[in-house]
Amino acid sequence: MSHAEEHEGTRRDFLYYATASTGAVGIGAAVWPLVNQMNPSADVQALSSIRVDISGVETGTQLTVKWRGKPVFIRRRTQEDIDLARSVPLADLPDPLARNQNLEPNAPATDQDRTMDEAGEWLVMMGVCTHLGCVPLGNVAGDFGGWFCPCHGSHYDSAGRIRKGPAPENLHIPQTEFVDDTTIKLG
Ligand code: FES
Repeated sequence: MSHAEEHEGTRRDFLYYATASTGAVGIGAAVWPLVNQMNPSADVQALSSIRVDISGVETGTQLTVKWRGKPVFIRRRTQEDIDLARSVPLADLPDPLARNQNLEPNAPATDQDRTMDEAGEWLVMMGVCTHLGCVPLGNVAGDFGGWFCPCHGSHYDSAGRIRKGPAPENLHIPQTEFVDDTTIKLG
């Protein structure tokens, strides 16, 4: 093998490995948001709390804010949304857990365990489909009066609970609290 050929061979190997590792980075990047969302380290959490003014959110509408690089849905539910969600027997839910970071990990997915206030008016959740991370469409979309993820057809109800389609979990609820009547703190 001449010196030139040897060089060519090395270069091709290099290109091959470069391509392979780019692919690996792509997969890592797709998976990372969900993993990160479930295990935010304490320092990230401390640095990235935000306050959201909800005074302009009308009943029956949703405010979407970007937080930690992801959308968060803040929906002010109508009485219809609330009644619909509360009429669902828990046995009908594919994911029986609340997925609410403000509660114990085994809290059940009742409507009351998903909302911020007792009346159930405020529902705050990550706008990240639990299937592969698309952003579901809201404002009463899908077959269950909630959100619909068109990527592979996941339907969430008016409490953001998965009801039909490939998504395995209810939409996740981040750490939230009322700072005052018109301000919500995320994180
Ligand atoms: S990412 Fe939502 S259904 Fe696949």
